[in-house]
Amino acid sequence: SVKYFNGEFVKDSISIDPNDRGYQFGDGIYEVIRVYDGKLFTGIEHFERLLRSAAEIQIKLEQTVDDYMAICERLVAENYIQNGNIYVQVTRGAAVRNHLFPESSEPVTFIYTYDSERPVQGMKEGVKVITTDDIRWLRCDIKSLNLLGNVLNKQKAKEAGGTEAIQLREGIVTEGTSSNAYIVKEGAIYTHPANNLILNGITRQVIKTCAAEMGIPFIEQSFDKDALFAADEIFISSTSIEVTPVNQVDDQPFAVGPVTQKLQQAFEQKIS
Ligand code: PDD
Repeated sequence: SVKYFNGEFVKDSISIDPNDRGYQFGDGIYEVIRVYDGKLFTGIEHFERLLRSAAEIQIKLEQTVDDYMAICERLVAENYIQNGNIYVQVTRGAAVRNHLFPESSEPVTFIYTYDSERPVQGMKEGVKVITTDDIRWLRCDIKSLNLLGNVLNKQKAKEAGGTEAIQLREGIVTEGTSSNAYIVKEGAIYTHPANNLILNGITRQVIKTCAAEMGIPFIEQSFDKDALFAADEIFISSTSIEVTPVNQVDDQPFAVGPVTQKLQQAFEQKIS
């Protein structure tokens, strides 16, 4: 399939410089964008967030949101992607290894597409999650390539028979390792405020809009582990899992509830 690498559309394999700072330091940022029926879903929002992440780590990008949209639309068309994902990565570029920013290095951009179906079973039946300490850094609002904390916690979830880890910082629920986390209590949705401790998910923002349209309170207020276990419903969200109910946390079962299902229906409307 066709990929975009450093200003060019390429069909063959590409070569990555071993001195690329993404490779050596995780010095870069990324996005994952969903394609439904051949069209990018919330593409503009994803690229606005990419530009924000870049600015936060002082990577200067020449491309605009429109430039990125045009590149992705071409890849989706040329690769005949109907339902799939787009992965976008930008690193600070290649330079002799040194922690300091290089005096001169050009950002390296890599974009590829792949087919992927909606995870319908998990969305219907719910998924099992575990709780674990949030061991990540304090700038989780940046969609950084440094994902070691996320990787270790997700692996821990898998080894405990789950699919995601709900992370706790000083007893407060922050988010999943690759998803945002929510509880429903007495008809209202609660989720961690969009500050430095979580990634402000694009799906989270769509859910916020859906909740407003349906008159369901969407309260951006942190909650602790006790509130998690006392919830009426729990769900998680991301570009790839949309709105996914949680049916078990550690050893405690949860039912797939009506507020989660209403949000799923509203989300479905947005993507069709
Ligand atoms: N993950 N929180 C974290 C830590 C994430 O990595 C993600 C996304 C989200 C949800 O963001 P969004 O709704 O914009 O996808 C929240 C992507 C999908 C990934 O790493 O594959």
